[in-house]
Amino acid sequence: MEKGVNRRNFLKFLGLAGVATTGAILSKDILSDSAKREIVSRAEARTNGQTYEVKPGELDSYYGFWSGGHSGEIRILGIPSMRELKRIPVFNMDVGTGWGITNESKKLLRGRYTGDTHHVHGSYRNGTYDGKYLFVNDKLNNRAARIRIDYMEVDAIVDIPNSQGTHGLFPQRYPKTEWIVTNGEFQAPVPNDPKRQPKEYYGVHTIIDAERMAIVCQVLVEENLDLAATDYKGKYSMATSYNAEQGVTISEMLAWDNDYLLVFNWERIRDALKKGNYSTINGVKVIDGRRGKSNIVLRIPVPKNPHGVNVSPDGKYAVRSGKVSPACTVIDLDKVDLAFAGKIKPEECIVAQPYIGLGPLHTTFDGRGNAITSVFIDSTNVKWNLEKAIEAERMGPEAKKKNPHIVDVLDIHYQVGHIMATMAETKEADGKWLVSLNKFSKDRFLNVGPLKNECEQLVDISGEKLKLVHDSATYIEPHDCIMVRRDIIEKNVKDRVNMFEYHPMAVTKSGVERKGKDVIVKLTANAPVYGLQEVRVKKGDRVTVIVTNNDEISDLGHGFALSDYNINFVVAPFQTKSVTFIADKPGVYWAYCTNFCHALHLEMRMRFIVEA
Ligand code: CUA
Repeated sequence: MEKGVNRRNFLKFLGLAGVATTGAILSKDILSDSAKREIVSRAEARTNGQTYEVKPGELDSYYGFWSGGHSGEIRILGIPSMRELKRIPVFNMDVGTGWGITNESKKLLRGRYTGDTHHVHGSYRNGTYDGKYLFVNDKLNNRAARIRIDYMEVDAIVDIPNSQGTHGLFPQRYPKTEWIVTNGEFQAPVPNDPKRQPKEYYGVHTIIDAERMAIVCQVLVEENLDLAATDYKGKYSMATSYNAEQGVTISEMLAWDNDYLLVFNWERIRDALKKGNYSTINGVKVIDGRRGKSNIVLRIPVPKNPHGVNVSPDGKYAVRSGKVSPACTVIDLDKVDLAFAGKIKPEECIVAQPYIGLGPLHTTFDGRGNAITSVFIDSTNVKWNLEKAIEAERMGPEAKKKNPHIVDVLDIHYQVGHIMATMAETKEADGKWLVSLNKFSKDRFLNVGPLKNECEQLVDISGEKLKLVHDSATYIEPHDCIMVRRDIIEKNVKDRVNMFEYHPMAVTKSGVERKGKDVIVKLTANAPVYGLQEVRVKKGDRVTVIVTNNDEISDLGHGFALSDYNINFVVAPFQTKSVTFIADKPGVYWAYCTNFCHALHLEMRMRFIVEA
């Protein structure tokens, strides 16, 4: 519950209804806590009845975490409303929050302000989300970032050497997330020497310690590695590969009839590390997982150029989606144990290869034994039953021909990439909603020019049939998402930061300290004033401004922007950020609050005087 007065009450409390800019806020009613609770419970009842409409004042049932694709960010959406609630800058610069401008964010970004986020996943405990962290890859600059869920902010970024096209990412699901894995999609020389020939280009499967955000080791393979998954027992990670050929042109990459699903044996990886069976390349322990070099990697042959790999919520099966082949491949994970033990051949882990459609890319699950696969070329979502597919495979080609596994086919608009159902990457998959992340929107929205938005469609999967209920326009170009039950996240999200834990330099008393040419300006921000009304420095001084928001009221953020100095950031309640710059332009410059905080928000400014 809210401590003290909330922002709405705070603004009303001022009694300045005549101030034009606050009018809209002040005219709204204040809801009592009991009224709020009633609305919340009504909203829950409605979504259980699968109404996607979330009326004004009601809250969504799921947090959706979206990767932003080449925007480099993560987005938070409410599900089922599909309302975008927030963007979390990760690998990108964001002037809305000051990410990439403050010293703290620059330290994490280290001069690289673009990224390509593809796969966002949460941290796990016992096969379901624990609500602690999100993780996301950067395919462009080969990094992985961690977002702490209490503040919904990045707190760590790790570089991944020896890896290019760092794509698939997945956390350990059991017993808890100690490791996360990423896949290098583009084979490259390791170490990166331009004299190497393509047959000496490798893919790497990287294991990262989730708490330390440091690399544990890498497994080097000939294949490229595309999507990643982990099992529900803490034994294996998996990767699809579409270029076992080690080709460097598209025709070379399509040459063979088979590629592989690679399974990495974690016990054997730990053993190799213990025994020192690795070489250190660019500061990382690299284990040789090439064919015939070790027993760490199991290669299950699958039809060529596959794409996604997803594990069913009961932990029994890994489903590899065909992409170039019109089928999915179902792998029995218990049989993987036998294959690693040498008791069966890798291909004997396959228990079904059901027909799905043209271009199956990714598979998600409803928790009731059904899989739903995105089909790119057909522009469909196909719902199919896992056990029926396995049964038909057992019965032979005649039974398979009838496609008894197919439950429903839904046309979508258009060309779907990822799909994801609510809680589908956990043992608590609940089969309520599915989002189809479609790559082309074409005619579904008002025409906004040659470069169009995406069309992400909400599908009700609570019944037998897939039911399209909502088109959502999304800014380019989300790639993947997860949808997490609200109760898991909500309890961990904070309204204010822990002031000194967040930043040891938090300011509670304003002042200016000078040491030679170094000037430190300590600034409190309390609506509607900064702790200083003016600051004087000399041309050429190296100035560090540290700003702490001393308002603990929920949602009361302040900005700090310095005219003509390209400085612009926001501090949330009790948050501290800093910026360092050279005062190279003499004159009088106004620093001002950018984030609407008070009826006197416009007056919240101070002079920054640079003496010649
Ligand atoms: Cu402080 Cu606007």
